[in-house]
Formats: sequence, C-alpha cells, structure tokens
Amino acid sequence: MPAIYAYAPGKVILTGEHAVVYGRPAIAVPVHEVRVRAAIQANPTDSKGTVHILAPDISLDTVLNDMPADHPMSIIFREVQKELGIEHLPALTLTVTSTIPIAAGLGSGAAISVAISRVLSSFLGAPLPEESISRIAFETDHFYHGTPSGIDNTVISYGRMVFFIRGKPIEMLANPLAFTLVIADSGKKSLTGKVVHDLRTRVEIDPARYQAIFDRSEIISRSAREAIEQGDHTRLGTLLSDNHFLLQQLAVSTAHLDLLVKTAMEAGALGAKLSGAGCGGNIIALVDANSAKSIASALRSAGAVNTIITTVPRS
Ligand code: PMV
Repeated sequence: MPAIYAYAPGKVILTGEHAVVYGRPAIAVPVHEVRVRAAIQANPTDSKGTVHILAPDISLDTVLNDMPADHPMSIIFREVQKELGIEHLPALTLTVTSTIPIAAGLGSGAAISVAISRVLSSFLGAPLPEESISRIAFETDHFYHGTPSGIDNTVISYGRMVFFIRGKPIEMLANPLAFTLVIADSGKKSLTGKVVHDLRTRVEIDPARYQAIFDRSEIISRSAREAIEQGDHTRLGTLLSDNHFLLQQLAVSTAHLDLLVKTAMEAGALGAKLSGAGCGGNIIALVDANSAKSIASALRSAGAVNTIITTVPRS
C-alpha cells in the first residue's frame, strides 16, 4: 500500500504580535516556501498494531504508546481519534520531516500538528475540516507555550492571510495586489513561551504603559488591513516599521534584529520589523519584487543566517 502525505506551511506575523495575546488584532500570512511533510505508511503485517513515529530531523524514532500523554504527538493522535470516534488504530508508521526552522517565529510547532492531523485523518478515511485541524493544533500549541493566542494554528490550518482577534470568528483578508516579503533569520533561537511569559511579568508591573502600547498596535493592525485591502504598499511598509518601534518598546527586539531591520530599510525596503515573539528569530521586510534579491543579499551580509523570499498572492 503506498504511503499518503499531507503538508503544512510556515507563517509570519505581519503586524500585531504580542498585542494579539491581549485581545488586540494581528495579521499573519502563510509562508509556502517552507513546510512540514507528514507521511503515513500502513503496516498490515504488524499484528500488534504498533504506531511507529519517525522524525529524522530531530532524531526521534519511537512508538506512540511510549510517549508521555502530554507530548504534542500523543495529543494530536488522541484528538484526531476523538474527533473521528476511532478507538483503535491500525499498525502504521508516521514520518515527519520539516524545512521550517525551529524556534524562529515561523510556526513550526503548529505546522507539525496541522500536517499530522491532516495525514492521520485522511489515512483513517475521514479528512478533518480546517476548523478541527486548527483546534487540534491550538491544543498542542499549549505544550510549546502556555498561552497561545491561536494565530499560528489559524493561519497555518487555513493557509490564507488572516486578520485574527483571539476568540472572534476568523477573517480572511482580500488582497488586490500581490506583495513580496523578505524573511531573514537572525540565527538566534527564541522560545515563544518564555518571551510571552517574561512580557506578561512586565505587563503586570505596569499595565497602563503596556495597554497603551497594545492600543497603538491595534491601530497599526487595523490600518495595515486597510492598506492591504487598498493595495497601498507604501503605507503598509510604514506601518510595519511603526510596529517594529512598538516591539522595541515591549523590549522583545535585540541589537541584531534592529540591525537587520535597519539594513533592510537602507537597502530599499518599504518597511521592516521583527516578526513573531522576538528576542531572536526572524525579521520581515516588505519589498518591491525587483529588489527582493539584493535586499536578501544585504541582510545575509549583515549576519542573517538564512533568507526566504515569499510572495503573498492576490486573493
Ligand atoms: O510563534 P511565534 O514566535 O511566531 O509567536 C507568536 C506570536 C505571539 O503573539 C508572540 C504569541 C501568540 O501566541 O500570538
């Protein structure tokens, strides 16, 4: 029996990270240049019904029953089985590979959950809808970081640009004019859970100061939505740079992220900011498609360990 496959893209946050944890809107886009691939092969000759899990990128070679109940892998299997009302699994081998850098703000944890839920539900004969896939990825995101807003699982499950407010219905954004982003990896790993937790400590000490920053972030995300819907990339670029300034005030930027943002602007970007939790990870720069390669090259010269050029298509 041939193996079956499913994929899930990476993502970047255009505007509103951190503020989104506090109920403000954020905009995120899928990044299809990097992805998780999950494959399932049935093992009909295995009469014991072993569920074998392989993730060669992280040297994982194990059996589902040997994994702790709160491990994301156990949660995904349990949740998919619960959704489908299937108690016993047939023997199978799940192989997960990924080109999404880990702990870099590109959504690798949510993408792993999405790809596995997709392939497992298809393998079991009942592909789950996006809504269920997203919910399962949200459950597993708690493992990586205690209080996820839900934006990662949403944008990755639906594979479309989203305007997201925690607890509100998802809104897909219309995009009349394709735009190009350069994503540059600072090379420093960043654990979202820790950055979000540390910021929460600062917010609790001085709530008024931080709520004011989150209010400004909300204005930026709502204005960015308008700029996208009007195809006004000059304005969108300015808003991204304004958002970086707010993220600096939240103390989640670093000298290297600031340098990468400055480098992108000097090389001709329309706007640039850190993207994701910060304290490492990636920056994004909004660029003219024609200058994407030269800006990516300037960013690598400034110490970015990797760059990705992605286009957010018309929709
Ligand atoms: O997973 P990251 O690093 O892209 O961060 C997600 C964005 C945050 O707003 C910082 C956290 C969240 O749950 O929304």
